Amino acid sequence: MSSVPPASMPSVTSDETKPKKLGGYDFYKEVLGSPKYIVAPMVDQSELAWRRLSRRYGAQLIYTPMINAKMWADDTHKNYRTANFDIASGEEGDPAIDRPLIIQFCANDPEKLLASAKMLEGHCDAVDINLGCPQDIAKKGRYGAFLMDDWDLVFRLINILHTNLSVPVTAKFRVFPTVEKTVEYAKMLERAGAQILTCHGRLREQRGQYAGLADWSKIKAVKEAVSVPVFANGNILFQSDIEECLRATGADGVMSAEGQLYNAALFAGLSASSPSSTTSTSAPTTTAHPPPEIQHPPHVDLALEYLSIVQSLKTRTAVSAVKGHLFKLMRPALSRETDLRELLGKVKIGGKDADVSYDGGALQPYVDICLEMKKRMERDTIDASGKTIEELTTIDKATGLRVLPHWLAQPYFRPPPPPMPAKREKVQKPKTEALGTPDPIKAATVPAKRSISETELTADVEKLNEGLVSVVTGIDGGGFESERAGKNAKPKLEPGFIQEGVGVSLVGV
Ligand SMILES: Cc1cc2nc3c(=O)[nH]c(=O)nc-3n(C[C@H](O)[C@H](O)[C@H](O)COP(=O)(O)O)c2cc1C
Repeated sequence: MSSVPPASMPSVTSDETKPKKLGGYDFYKEVLGSPKYIVAPMVDQSELAWRRLSRRYGAQLIYTPMINAKMWADDTHKNYRTANFDIASGEEGDPAIDRPLIIQFCANDPEKLLASAKMLEGHCDAVDINLGCPQDIAKKGRYGAFLMDDWDLVFRLINILHTNLSVPVTAKFRVFPTVEKTVEYAKMLERAGAQILTCHGRLREQRGQYAGLADWSKIKAVKEAVSVPVFANGNILFQSDIEECLRATGADGVMSAEGQLYNAALFAGLSASSPSSTTSTSAPTTTAHPPPEIQHPPHVDLALEYLSIVQSLKTRTAVSAVKGHLFKLMRPALSRETDLRELLGKVKIGGKDADVSYDGGALQPYVDICLEMKKRMERDTIDASGKTIEELTTIDKATGLRVLPHWLAQPYFRPPPPPMPAKREKVQKPKTEALGTPDPIKAATVPAKRSISETELTADVEKLNEGLVSVVTGIDGGGFESERAGKNAKPKLEPGFIQEGVGVSLVGV
């Protein structure tokens, strides 16, 4: 940490001879259009098809899934490139259909990061660095949240992009146990050249069954301490959370991962009704919420729309991504329509993933399941006719959160986590915890309510069947390449990793 320049020392700035790129609020407003509703980077889930669907439902800015800079920079991994950002198909990052877009990398080598980012700078509005992945795989690969221990390297990763890219660099990070250290870190990221900061209000240790709630007060402190735009990440399940979060943190936008995955319409109807923030300090105005049917459309309609987007694209969507999205979207009904859940789990798209042509009807088994689901949901809607959505909504006893009728898109949440083991106590590995033992959270409290987090890795049978566990594609340091890394690539499993129908998993980056 010692070689990080002090606050008074200016960071290296771009060469004067290069065309000037906008930074901070100028970039946020003029290039990005002052987005407030942002879809998070999600491995195997914020792929082009999902981005297309999300934009139709109010998302104003989207991040790609994390790309491993070391893998991308290595030109022996051609399939990795196509699977993670398909330049040749011409659709990813296309200004007509896929902007604004921020491409995210994980990295620990500034030169490799720069080489990779240079190849993609013409296809996005900015490049983001993942400083928040808390998983064991990131620990082994020394990236994500494990760079929180090496501020000098973090500074260099950001600054090399700030100095050499034609587009701005941004950073997404987790909070530290204290507000002071979180703020100091955020200021260092800004000084290094980050033009937008996304603050995920959870600690590095808040993962797995101990994920708990994000701490918005730390996000607020970051927002007050820096001059660049700040996005708040964590705890966004319903539209009502968005406004609450903007008020509590003063952030310029909210970023959602899981809330938006379970309800692609999380941001629907908001853009028209809420003015964009125009200054770094403007308090968000009260937003008139669209009616419940806009906020929570029938999930099977979203699923069918998503499938038709997948079919319409030249860019190939990984089978694992398709399956993961269908399980999440239709989750409220799949827990009762168990035959359809089983069928969905069993669908195999024949041949090697990369060889299957979707326009040749390969997705038909998924479409058929969705059509059958649609019939059943229409049956249930008719049975409930005469009642409003509000009348049909109940409250979950364990969490106090709203549960909508099972045919509507809505967030998924679990009961509160078990009490945290005391500090230094040896953690008993739960039988179901297949992806590594979570660290006990040192000073966190157990929240009364929470969504399942990105790191909800309990490998119970239900989750495996539901495709809730996603594939990590070619993450460096974990000793494997996923099936998406190349049609002939065989996953090499680390001890303790789960293998399931669609690949190998992880979560939580
Ligand atoms: C399926 C999934 C994949 C994720 N992949 C990434 C990723 O590629 N890069 C990243 O920075 N965060 C990743 N995350 C973390 C989210 O971006 C986000 O920080 C986290 O889930 C907290 O937001 P939430 O409370 O809205 O879920 C992922 C989360 C999920 C659920």
